[in-house]
Amino acid sequence: MANVAVIGAQWGDEGKGKVVDLFSRDADIVVRFQGGNNAGHTLVVDGQKTVLHLIPSGALHANKLCVIGNGVVVDPQALLEEIQGLKERGHLLDDSLLRVSEEAHLIMPYHKSIDLARERLRGKGKIGTTGRGIGPAYEDKVARTGIRFIDLTEEETFREKLRHNIEEKNIYLKAILKEKTLSFSEIHDTYCGYREKLKGYVTDTALLLDREMKAGKRVLFEGAQGTLLDVDHGTYPFVTSSNTGIGGVCSGAGVGPQNIHQIIGISKAYTTRVGSGPFPTELKGPEGEKLKQEGDEFGATTGRPRRCGWFDAVGVRYAVRINGMTGIALTKLDVLTGFKEIKICTAYRADGATYYEFPSSLCVLERAQPVFEVMDGWGTPLSGTRKLSDLPKNAQKYIRRLEEILNTEMVLVSVGPGREETIMLKNPFSS
Ligand code: IMP
Repeated sequence: MANVAVIGAQWGDEGKGKVVDLFSRDADIVVRFQGGNNAGHTLVVDGQKTVLHLIPSGALHANKLCVIGNGVVVDPQALLEEIQGLKERGHLLDDSLLRVSEEAHLIMPYHKSIDLARERLRGKGKIGTTGRGIGPAYEDKVARTGIRFIDLTEEETFREKLRHNIEEKNIYLKAILKEKTLSFSEIHDTYCGYREKLKGYVTDTALLLDREMKAGKRVLFEGAQGTLLDVDHGTYPFVTSSNTGIGGVCSGAGVGPQNIHQIIGISKAYTTRVGSGPFPTELKGPEGEKLKQEGDEFGATTGRPRRCGWFDAVGVRYAVRINGMTGIALTKLDVLTGFKEIKICTAYRADGATYYEFPSSLCVLERAQPVFEVMDGWGTPLSGTRKLSDLPKNAQKYIRRLEEILNTEMVLVSVGPGREETIMLKNPFSS
C-alpha cells in the first residue's frame, strides 16, 4: 500500500497537473501541502482545459477527497472562485470532498499590496513574483502574526489580529512603499463573508489524514512549483517562499515521513523558468523561441512567457538527491520533435572551474556556462505513441541517457497534454 509524493524537479511548470491527474486514478486522497494560488496546474480532459491554482488536481476525478493542508497559504476569494468554477463544470459537487486545514494561513489584501509594491520598487532586481501575496503571507506566518482559518472562525481572535496587522501594515504601506492604506472594516467584513462561505470545508486535516491512512486509504501528495524554487534549496533569493520539496510534505500536511513511499520527480524533457533568476541552459535565440511556441510556454497563472532552454541535468540530478526521488515522470517529450540536435547539460563551467553538483552561490550560477552532451533528434510526431518501444529510436536513446545521467528510472513519459497522450511505464502506487 503506497502513498506517493509528486515533486517538481525544475523551476516549476513541469506538468505536475497532468501527472497528478493521472496518478489520482489510483489514489483516494489528493493533498496540496505548500504554496498557494501562485501555482497553475493545467489539466486537459476530453479536450477540455482546466487550470487549478489551489484545489488539488484530483478534483477532476469523481469521489476523490481533496485536501488543502496547513502548509498552503490560501486566498479565500481565489478558493471560492475555484470551487465555483469546478462546480459549474460538474466537479466537486459533494462539498465533503474538499477539506481545508484550519491551520492554513490566509492571504490578506495587504499581502498582495506589499508583494506588488515591493516588486515595483525592486525594479531591475525584481524576483518576478506572481503578485498573489504569497511571500508576504509566509513572512507573517514565520513572524507569528499570520491569520489562520482557525483564527478567522473565532471572531474575537480575528478582530484583534486583524486590527494589529492593519495598523502595522498601513504604516509600512504608506511610509515605506508609498502605497494606499487599507481599511480595517472593509477587510473585516469581507473576510467574515468568506468565513461563512468556507466554514463547512475547514477542519483538522492532519488528523483526518492520519485516520484515513490508518484505514488504508492511498494518498497522493501534490507538490506545487519546483525544487529549484524551494526557499531552502532553490536559487535563493529567486525562489518562492515555501519548501516545495519533499520536506514540505511532512510539515505542510502534518504527516510523518514513513507515510511517503514513492517520491516521483516531474521534469520536462527540456527546461523552463518564469520570473527572474539564473538559468544556465537558457536559449535566447530561435531554438528557445521554438521551444516556447511548440511547448505553449506561457504561465498558467500570470500568462507570462516562460524562458526556455535545454535539459539541465545538473539541476534535475540535484532535485533527485535533495528529495530522494524514486522515479521521474518526463513530460513534453513531443515538444522536442523537429530539433536536429538535442542537448543535455551535464555540468557547468564558471571562472575556470567545472561544477558537477548544483552550486549554492548565485554568482556562480549567474556566470555558469553549460557543458553539453549532444544527441541526435527525431522528426516523427510522438503524440500518438503509447509504448516506449514505438518511439523513434533517438527519442528512446534520449530517455535512456537521461535515466543514466540522473541514475533514476522513468515511470512515465508524456507525449501530449491529454490524459491519453502518455506512455505509462510503472505505477508508483503499486511499487
Ligand atoms: P511567488 O511564489 O509569487 O512569490 O514568486 C516567486 C518566484 O516563483 C517567481 O519567480 C515566480 O515566477 C515563481 N513561481 C511561483 N509559482 C510558480 C509556479 O507555479 N510555476 C513556476 N514558477 C512559479
